[in-house]
Amino acid sequence: MQTEKERELAPAGEPERQYYFMELLRRHNEERSAELGRSLTYHIETFGCQMNAKDSEKLAGILEAAGYVPELSEQADFVLYNTCTVRENANTKVYGRIGYLGNLKSKNPEMRIALCGCMMQEPHVLAKIKQSYRFVDIVFGTHNIYMLAELIWRLVSGEKRVVEIWDGTEKIVEELPSEHKYRFKAGVNIMYGCNNFCSYCIVPYVRGRERSRRPEDILAEIKKLADEGIVEVMLLGQNVNSYGKTLDSPLSFAELLKKVEAVEGIRRIRFMTSHPKDLSDELIEVMRQSRKVCRHLHLPMQSGSTKILSRMNRRYSKEDYLALVDRIKAAMPDISLTTDIITGFPGETEEDFLDTLDVVKRAGFDSAYTFLYSKRTGTPAATMEEQVPEAVAKERFNRLLALLSEQSAKQTGKHTGMTAEVLVEEQNEQEPSLLTGRLGNNLLVHFPGEASLVGQFVQVKLCECKGFYYIGRQV
Ligand code: SAH
Ligand code: SF4
Ligand code: F3S
Repeated sequence: MQTEKERELAPAGEPERQYYFMELLRRHNEERSAELGRSLTYHIETFGCQMNAKDSEKLAGILEAAGYVPELSEQADFVLYNTCTVRENANTKVYGRIGYLGNLKSKNPEMRIALCGCMMQEPHVLAKIKQSYRFVDIVFGTHNIYMLAELIWRLVSGEKRVVEIWDGTEKIVEELPSEHKYRFKAGVNIMYGCNNFCSYCIVPYVRGRERSRRPEDILAEIKKLADEGIVEVMLLGQNVNSYGKTLDSPLSFAELLKKVEAVEGIRRIRFMTSHPKDLSDELIEVMRQSRKVCRHLHLPMQSGSTKILSRMNRRYSKEDYLALVDRIKAAMPDISLTTDIITGFPGETEEDFLDTLDVVKRAGFDSAYTFLYSKRTGTPAATMEEQVPEAVAKERFNRLLALLSEQSAKQTGKHTGMTAEVLVEEQNEQEPSLLTGRLGNNLLVHFPGEASLVGQFVQVKLCECKGFYYIGRQV
């Protein structure tokens, strides 16, 4: 077969090999489009965190280079689900929707369905897909997203179903195309994977070992983004505070931040996520002195109980966490702190939960993401004794939410009457005469203005606090 021969001719090195397949596919799709009298379309549905969102931008970049055009609905010729499995409900949501894709496929003979992302790294998920969702054409994992064009080409070459899932990888393939959801802000991976093995968490199993990108590659990407008009970057990693440890010439995250700060054209720098155990005084100092690093820190506490934190393998105590918050606030009194909290972790007693409430009262979070503990097969916590009944976890969850909303209204309201610089992100969906902008500290403000301001920095007076956002006016 012609397609077989073309595969044999593919260059071995990356990313050349992938550009070769993108080009083959583009020519193939062009011919198919001419026959059909329309363009071939793609749709990506992204579940989960910012890492997945970033991966989806890369996947979109590859698909566009291969000649597909974006389609908002799932009625597309190539539909890709980039999945998440951090909690059971993320997982359930995906299964329901794959069934729906099967119906769509029966109406469009051109349609191809692909699944990728964290869920696909779990052997029991793959087994279920192979058995119960036979209409799925391509399945791949988190380690080989860069080879999407090659995987599609294998399908084109006649393979019935392409499954390519790796347990892990050392490889970081640079310089592939990438799309951007926004033209003024972008996420930038600085590292992949996680080595922390918090006892409840599936991420280290599905994302593999921690690998840092080389600073020169990160900076080249950021410079390119700045040249394209991006003014805000979000540096991404599961634990950015341990950046650089695996590099040939190690570099700390604080040092990397200083280098990013020096990139002309970038005006705001954010990063996610910081693990409290690795947050250094050096980082606090770099943040304090910086003009570009935003005054916002997402610092997941998970629990306020030292006993539970130890069972979670978080490697800090209640006191460590509070002392860290004090150090951060002493250096930057105007910083906005946000966090993640789990209720109902195995062994959590009422007393442990009261410790969580105590930290919430003392830390002064602007907002928090709260989660009911979800058992993930294969993690140490899944087999721990003393699993907390769901009703108890829920009741604690509700009490926590009540306290948090009271606290965050107090925290957020502090800025009433002040004028601040905001980056205008979009026109308000419900009320098109309003724009939505984001403050450096990550708070949102809605204010009247023209759509042409999207992507610009403007000064806005924060007139009225509505709990977790402001109503303002441009000054
Ligand atoms: N790397 C980040 C978190 C990634 S997962 C960090 O360490 O902070 C995002 C959040 O999901 C976690 O902070 C945790 O609060 C929550 N989470 C992870 N696994 C969970 C589980 N099994 N049940 C409930 N929440 C979980
Ligand atoms: Fe999961 Fe912990 Fe790694 Fe975060 S640091 S991804 S919670 S194992
Ligand atoms: Fe989900 Fe994977 Fe992110 S499990 S939270 S998409 S790293």
